[in-house]
Amino acid sequence: MDIRIRKASPLQVKTACLVIGIYEKGFSELIYKELDQLLGGLLHKARRSGEFTGRKGEQILFQPAGQLPAERVLLVGLGPKAEGSLDGIRLAAGSAMQVLTSKKFGQAAFALPLCAVRQSDWADRVQATAEGALLAGYRYDRFLGDKAKEARKLPQTLTLLIESNHDKQACESALDRAQKLCRAVITARDLVNAPGNVKSPAYLAEQAQAAADQCSLKCKILGQKELTKAGCGALLGVAQGSVREPQMILLEHQGGQKGQAPVVLVGKGVVFDAGGISLKPAEKMDEMKMDMAGGAAVIGTLFAAALLELPINLVGIVPAVENLPSGTAYRPGDILTSLSGQTIEVLNTDAEGRLILADALTYAKRYEPRMVIDLATLTGACIIALGHHATAVLGNDQKLVDALLNAGKESGERLWQLPLWDDYDQQIKSDVADVKNTGGRPAGTITAAAFLKKFAGDFDWAHLDIAGTAWRDQDQPYIPKGGTGVGVRLLVAFLQDLAGSVK
Ligand code: BES
Ligand code: MN
Ligand code: ZN
Repeated sequence: MDIRIRKASPLQVKTACLVIGIYEKGFSELIYKELDQLLGGLLHKARRSGEFTGRKGEQILFQPAGQLPAERVLLVGLGPKAEGSLDGIRLAAGSAMQVLTSKKFGQAAFALPLCAVRQSDWADRVQATAEGALLAGYRYDRFLGDKAKEARKLPQTLTLLIESNHDKQACESALDRAQKLCRAVITARDLVNAPGNVKSPAYLAEQAQAAADQCSLKCKILGQKELTKAGCGALLGVAQGSVREPQMILLEHQGGQKGQAPVVLVGKGVVFDAGGISLKPAEKMDEMKMDMAGGAAVIGTLFAAALLELPINLVGIVPAVENLPSGTAYRPGDILTSLSGQTIEVLNTDAEGRLILADALTYAKRYEPRMVIDLATLTGACIIALGHHATAVLGNDQKLVDALLNAGKESGERLWQLPLWDDYDQQIKSDVADVKNTGGRPAGTITAAAFLKKFAGDFDWAHLDIAGTAWRDQDQPYIPKGGTGVGVRLLVAFLQDLAGSVK
């Protein structure tokens, strides 16, 4: 899909389909009045009948009979203007793409960048439009035959329309940023969607290396031998049930000054989580191929940081293992000695994510980090608490949490904070080890974070539980079902803010 920027007035553009956004109660603006006139009053009529009133997600397709150069006009509702946001633009572009693809239009022009959004300029809106369109166009089709692939045709070209007095150069760089960012998000989605038989820990490591080969990232991989030598007893405990060797993926982006303390990102990389000896039920177990989505987000974010040349030092750590039951698997009751030296009583082998993260967080100390953020599909309890509409955030530094919450608003990848009071530590006290790996049913997401806190040391740290947001089983306007790539756009927004505040 080729995307271009063009200075032109929407109503004078020759195109197969002109896509226009409209706020609820925004019909009196000049452009819509003109459009209504050209359509012989059809817009007004649709509004009067209640068929199209500009509500969020509403769409209506007109076929003008030659009164304007566009062959079709697709109107997309943006909801109340006071609530207008860049994510509203992304959603509108995404839902327009669904129509364009289903109707097999080869070309379209988007007038979405002209929709006013508070605290945004033309370039921001161009970027949001392009992101919505590119992310909506994604499908995981690696295992589909040519016929199935061809059945779904994306438009060949999209034109993003801007007004004559706007800075085309700035809009073109915004488009370029959107393309780089979406390439990284799509890399993450592809990793999450890859099936377990393909996706061994070694495969994840190869893919991280392949991403690094396409940009300026440094990539280092630790295998079973190095992990044993280092003393990653918690990670190795989880890994021992699978014949596939565990890996620790280390990525580095040097965008800041030499010697500047890096931000370290840690992502859970369980390539398949059967639960181990504490076996999961069969229903939806297939979805547990997504249990490395935190790792995919870290690889994707590092890739984006390199492509976008973010002026910041960044390290990515992805502990990658497979959690299977077998004759060599770890058992409930086992006591593992973690890299930090703390001992862990395993009460449930299905609480494996926190074990591998414990060692990865300890490993992060070697980089003398400025701060550490981990992402993990850590608890089913998170889905019970927040459903699929928000990632849970917890941490030991409120400033960091606030900055992440803010990036969530900017990116549309929303976060919701849960408390991390010391009171919860009671639930993970063990009689025979320093800590146990489950805290019972109450507040499962919080006790998992309380466990991680014991390994986060004294650096600023935040934990993102993406169990509900990493995978969707229903299409969203710009998030097709399957792996969402959540975390990449969030963290890039966060890092951009952080780099900006340093300068
Ligand atoms: N990977 C799962 C959490 C999960 C569940 C993610 C559903 C996405 C969708 C994690 O390893 C797990 O099994 N957690 C257990 C912890 C429990 C045994 C303390 C859970 O949530 O049930
Ligand atoms: Mn599990
Ligand atoms: Zn898991």
